[in-house]
Order: sequence, then C-alpha cells, then structure tokens
Amino acid sequence: MSAVERIESNVRSYSRGFPTVFSTAKGALLYDEAGNAYVDLLAGAGSVNYGHNDARIKDAVVEYLLNDGVVQGLDLATTAKVAFLRDFARIVLGPRGMDYRIQFTGPTGTNAVEAALKLARKATGRTVVASFTNGFHGVSLGALAATGNDFKRSAAGVSLNDVVRLPFDCYIDGNFDSIAYARQLFGDPSSGYAKPAAFIVETVQGEGGLNVASEAWLRGLQALATELGALLIIDDIQAGCGRTGTFFSFERFGIQPDVICLSKSIGGNGLPMAIVLIAPKYDIWAPGEHNGTFRGNNLAFVAARAALSYWEDAHFLGQLDDNIQVMDLGLEAVLKKHPKLLVRKKGRGLFQGIEFARPEDALRVRAAMFDRAVVMEMSGPRGEVLKLMPPLTIPATLLERTIKLIDECIASL
Ligand SMILES: Cc1ncc(COP(=O)(O)O)c(C=O)c1O
Repeated sequence: MSAVERIESNVRSYSRGFPTVFSTAKGALLYDEAGNAYVDLLAGAGSVNYGHNDARIKDAVVEYLLNDGVVQGLDLATTAKVAFLRDFARIVLGPRGMDYRIQFTGPTGTNAVEAALKLARKATGRTVVASFTNGFHGVSLGALAATGNDFKRSAAGVSLNDVVRLPFDCYIDGNFDSIAYARQLFGDPSSGYAKPAAFIVETVQGEGGLNVASEAWLRGLQALATELGALLIIDDIQAGCGRTGTFFSFERFGIQPDVICLSKSIGGNGLPMAIVLIAPKYDIWAPGEHNGTFRGNNLAFVAARAALSYWEDAHFLGQLDDNIQVMDLGLEAVLKKHPKLLVRKKGRGLFQGIEFARPEDALRVRAAMFDRAVVMEMSGPRGEVLKLMPPLTIPATLLERTIKLIDECIASL
C-alpha cells in the first residue's frame, strides 16, 4: 500500500476504504496478496455482474487473444464486433420487441452519457436537458452537469450549464406529483423553464441512494417527454445488465426510451465498453460526428458476447431470481431487528441497500465489514445507505452468510 500512498494521486478513493493490495479474483471473491479472501459486494461498482473471471467469458477472451484476433479496431468492422451486434440483436433486442441502433462510444459510462446528451440536443435543436435530484451520470463536464452531487460538481472548475433539475419520484414525499409539477413548468411560457431536449433518468439511482422510480412515474415521464417533443434517455449504466433482475431495468414497465445508455457490465468481465441504443428515428449522427479511439475494444466485444449467452441460460436466470429472494428476505429480517438504527430497505433486485438513521453508522458498519473480509460501499447524499451489489452469480449461501455478518456488525453498534 505504501507505493499507492506515495505515488498515486490523492484522488484515489476505494483503496482508502479497503486498504489492501488485491491480486486475484474469482466469482464473488477477491483475494489479496496475503491470500485472504474477501466477499465482493461492490462488484467493480456494477461492472462485474457475471462474477470475476467467469470461466465462460474468460475462455472466450483467451481464445480470441491466442488466435491473434484484432484487439484495437477503432470503429472498423471486425469479426468480434459483428458477432456482438448479431447476438445483441438476437438475445436482447429481438425477444423484447425492441428496435434500436447501437452506437459504440468511448468505453466508460460517462462517454455514453455525453453521446446521448449531444444526440438529444442535436435532434431537438434545444440546449437544456432535464435531470433529476440525486442523479449520477458521470464526471465529464456534460454528464457532470446532469449529476446532482455537489462534491463532484464543485470539482468541475467551470459552470455546469444547460441542465435543469427536477424532483425524482418520491423526492418530496409519496404524495407530491413531480410529473405534474414538471408539466406545469415546461408548459408555462413564463415559468422560466425552456422546453428540454431530453429527460435523463436512472430507474434506480445507484449513487444517489438506491431510490427507485415506480412504473407509474416512469410511464408519466415518458408521456411528458412525448408531449414536449423531448427525448427520454434511460441511463441504465449501473441498473442495467441484470442488476435489477431483468436485462434492462425498465423492461417490464412498458416504456420505450428514445435512448438507452449501457456500460459497466456490458463488457462482460469488467472490460471497458459502453454503448448507446438509439431509436432509429433519432439516429441522425453524420459519419464520424462523434468518435473516440477506444470505441473498438474488441476484447470487450468478445467478453460481452459471452456474457450475453447467460441471458439464454436457464440456470443463470434461476440463480438470479433465487439471489434476489435471498436478498429481499435477508434485508427485511435485518431491518426488523434494528428499528432504531435503520430506516428502510432501498433499491430492487440485486441492487439494494439499508438506510441508516445516522450516516456515520453506515460508515462504521462498512469498516466493520471490511474487518470481516467483505468489500462494500455506501451511497446516498450523505453516505447513509449501505449498498449491497454482489455479482449476480454469487452463491446464495454466501450471500445469506454475508447478510448475517451485516446483521452482526449492526448489532455491534
Ligand atoms: C448511472 C450511472 N451513469 C453513469 C456513470 C458513469 O460511468 P463511468 O464511471 O464509467 O464514467 C455511472 C457510474 O457509476 C453510473 O452509475
């Protein structure tokens, strides 16, 4: 750790909360250099949903490398890209009746968000984008403008413009109709609110505290976007790729976003990759108008394709449902046992957390969990939500045991 402390920039963050040097990883376990195993409830912030070094994904990548497959392809057509495109259409889009074009952006989530925002502004000729309280969309300037967190925003050093913020579902309370509020603001020519190019929203706010948008609210948002001629952008970067129990977080809600951002676990084994799905009528880019050297991470395409095969695998789908049940029941039991310390369970699927009455208690439990060899993070505006985000493939018994450990740590408060 001393090399990290001396040489790496002060900006490093996770290595402060988990001060050990990790060297290998398999499934839901991380191993440090001393050979200690840690249960990983962070899962690369949602980028290793299929577990670390999953054999099916790893074998595909190793074979591709051994055969000298193209690794860096800019946006050239390659065998790996063609295979990914075909399988994404066949496994993901087709069965869901979805018709989208796929844009490969630079490989991080924020790259996908930048592309989506730019496209919406180009498509509508409008500048303002509407985003939501507690939303997180990345830290490059366009995405940061749409992000709520003041600490992250303050680091921009420039003004973050052309975004208006609206209350997320249940932000004020369960009775406040934030869609009606937005409709009033955007419909009134003297409200000071210009019509937006797009609404950008997470269906479950990963960094913002695992706040869940209801189906009714999302449908209302879609209707409002249509009325206003604005695009609906779903940022599924953290909530997508199975995290909430289905491939897309919104797919059972009967909404058809105009644009969908995916990154993190789309790259299979945590390999950097991001895509933007665009409803065909909005695919108005001129060739090369938006680009990026690393749009062609072919190793990620190979890993991504192998990962997609899990969505045709009954064992994987069954395991995902079972794990969600384990988490639901486990967290409900923990909540009941500590009514004074805990406020509520938040999130859905394998994307859940426990809200503490006092944020410092969440921090203490996270530290106590690390002492018990579990890696997990907090989220929410004050870090008040202890977040459980294991690989989707974590063995149910391990998940159960880990939730029991959380219970013990809370009891020790
Ligand atoms: C919903 C959401 N959007 C965008 C991003 C930004 O992704 P990246 O950190 O890869 O730029 C994140 C990252 O956590 C995210 O959770």
